[in-house]
Amino acid sequence: MLRPEINQLLSQTGPDAPMGKLFRRYWQPVLLAEELPENDCPPVRVKILSERLIAFRDTEGRYGLMDEFCAHRGASMWFGRNEENGLRCPYHGWKFDVTGQAVDVPSEADNSNFCASVKLKSYPMVQRGPVLWAYLGDPEQQPPLPEWEFATVPEEQAFCSKRLQECNWLQALEGGIDSSHVTFLHGGNVDTDPLFKSAAGGANAYNKGDLKPFFEVIDHEGGLLIGARRNAQEDSYYWRITPWVLPNFTMVPPRADNPVHGHFWVPIDDEHCWAFSYDYHPTRPLTADEVQAMRDGYGVHSANDAATICTETPWSRLQMA
Ligand code: FES
Ligand SMILES: [Fe+2]
Repeated sequence: MLRPEINQLLSQTGPDAPMGKLFRRYWQPVLLAEELPENDCPPVRVKILSERLIAFRDTEGRYGLMDEFCAHRGASMWFGRNEENGLRCPYHGWKFDVTGQAVDVPSEADNSNFCASVKLKSYPMVQRGPVLWAYLGDPEQQPPLPEWEFATVPEEQAFCSKRLQECNWLQALEGGIDSSHVTFLHGGNVDTDPLFKSAAGGANAYNKGDLKPFFEVIDHEGGLLIGARRNAQEDSYYWRITPWVLPNFTMVPPRADNPVHGHFWVPIDDEHCWAFSYDYHPTRPLTADEVQAMRDGYGVHSANDAATICTETPWSRLQMA
């Protein structure tokens, strides 16, 4: 068990918290790309690392991620109009571009230079694969774009979903990374789940057959490799090795020729996180049946699509809090 002060140190990720500063050194998934499906579509609220932000896609397809609240009197830009390369506040009409720069203040005189002095805090956001990624840290230290394999294979080889978890990111990660849950939580359906069943009789049988996996953990340059050893045949073991990559990425060992999957556990605030769960196949497109199974909530996915998550889960209440 962690001592309370260590637990706090690891689970608090606001801008001033030590762990918050660490998270701000990495690109993080903030939205599914399908949540901003076209130019000038409605903006989407994003809460990440305890910051309330608004994401939008402008007329030319550029992505913006900035303070949710208007620099004038603090109206939520979620109500804004996304038009002509900027998001216009519905209250008094101030308009901001994707960098957060004010570009129009309708009540000002035509020759006023006032706009130039108004800027919302903003962060870079880019699409890589099925995900929109943001970097909330010091611009001077911005790392290269994420190179996770699922985000760089051709589009038809990858899929990502997300789900809300009402716990902090560390609790979510710890539970997922602990391979002993596989036997209990997934043991009942691994042989029928369309995304796992081709391993029936092999890996799945070993998973279900040994309730006491032996763990061995070793360092690697990005984090840890967590090995769980189960008894297999008389003369052999079955190892499942889960990479954990700093700070919040885990990859699930694949079964047979099924797609490979994993999770990012992204802090919303100190009590909630998103699990961004992806599947990809490194050498072939996902089949229509596989994608449908992912959308239906099989494998590592939840059945909620992005629109459902945004409008019908406790997240919408959170956003208004
Ligand atoms: S509050 Fe946004 S323009 Fe006044
Ligand atoms: Fe699991």
